[in-house]
Amino acid sequence: SDPLRLGIAGLGTVGAGVVKIVRQKSLLLEARTGRGIAISAVSARNREKDRGVPLTDYGWEDDPVTLATRDDVDVFVELVGGSDGPAKAAVEAALKAGKDVVTANKALLAHHGQALAELAEENGCVLRFEAAVAGGIPVIKALTEGLAANDITRVMGVMNGTCNYILTRMESGGLSYAEAFAEADGLGFLEADPELDVGGIDAGHKLSLLSAIAYGTQVSFDAVELEGIGRVSIDDIRQASDMGYKIKLLGVCRMTGRGLEQSMSPCLVPASSPLGQLEGGTNMVVIEGDQVGQIVMRGAGAGEGPTASAVMGDVVDIARGTRVTTFGAPASKLVKATPAKAATP
Ligand code: HSE
Repeated sequence: SDPLRLGIAGLGTVGAGVVKIVRQKSLLLEARTGRGIAISAVSARNREKDRGVPLTDYGWEDDPVTLATRDDVDVFVELVGGSDGPAKAAVEAALKAGKDVVTANKALLAHHGQALAELAEENGCVLRFEAAVAGGIPVIKALTEGLAANDITRVMGVMNGTCNYILTRMESGGLSYAEAFAEADGLGFLEADPELDVGGIDAGHKLSLLSAIAYGTQVSFDAVELEGIGRVSIDDIRQASDMGYKIKLLGVCRMTGRGLEQSMSPCLVPASSPLGQLEGGTNMVVIEGDQVGQIVMRGAGAGEGPTASAVMGDVVDIARGTRVTTFGAPASKLVKATPAKAATP
């Protein structure tokens, strides 16, 4: 049958990575889907910029909304970013035009996930966003597919590599918060607005998506108890270390009799535990299910290859014919969660 045709909006690190995979792995993708994957057209702010990958084979659109609704696009791949503005407009346009959507945009989904999932359902489209949470780690697929028969008792994780890098450098390099922040900045780790990272907002976005998926609830980012790492001092880290603990920006969600707890805050974790041993700009997600017990997934939460890997995993699933949305349940069946305060800080 005909190849699945992509329209890719946003040609930053991740977008360029997706184009490279489609170009370099056409045989593998054809073997794994039975039909192959092609790019019809792309869109970005600056047409002239060299992205290290040839784009002349593809159509070009200045406006992602125009790209999203092209007749030769089956799947709209949104890698523009931002919770509103062109990313939101283009995803809505794509769904209204009957296109499936794959996105890595955690901010968009944390704020508008329910409305977009409903829009997808109304139009018979699939909305998938594995890459929005923990980059290359297929945590959403684990929850929605492999663990679908479990009651999820808890999900925990380190979901912002930049914060983990800063905390690790304070711990092992003896750097102050300001020095470690400057180092992360120099390495290009920080989001354009660094407060998204160090304020815990980016990680909070991801946690709100995981908890919705784990518990079949509507995304409720506003209910996440959020505290960033800006007030963690080198003294805090030393004291924790003396007691056998590390400080991590840890997300935790669980359903209690009182409602859904969601917190993203600096926490003490035992130094010898998998979370305590997680160093540098890496991510880890721990899932606990009533049948499976505890699962620990660790890997790269950002970067070209890992994030493009997750985007393409969703694209391959669509090429194979999946109609399952990332929420793992029909949008109309997702219930509003009652927020509960975390029992322990
Ligand atoms: N700023 C994010 C991080 C990038 O550091 O993990 C991936 O979402």
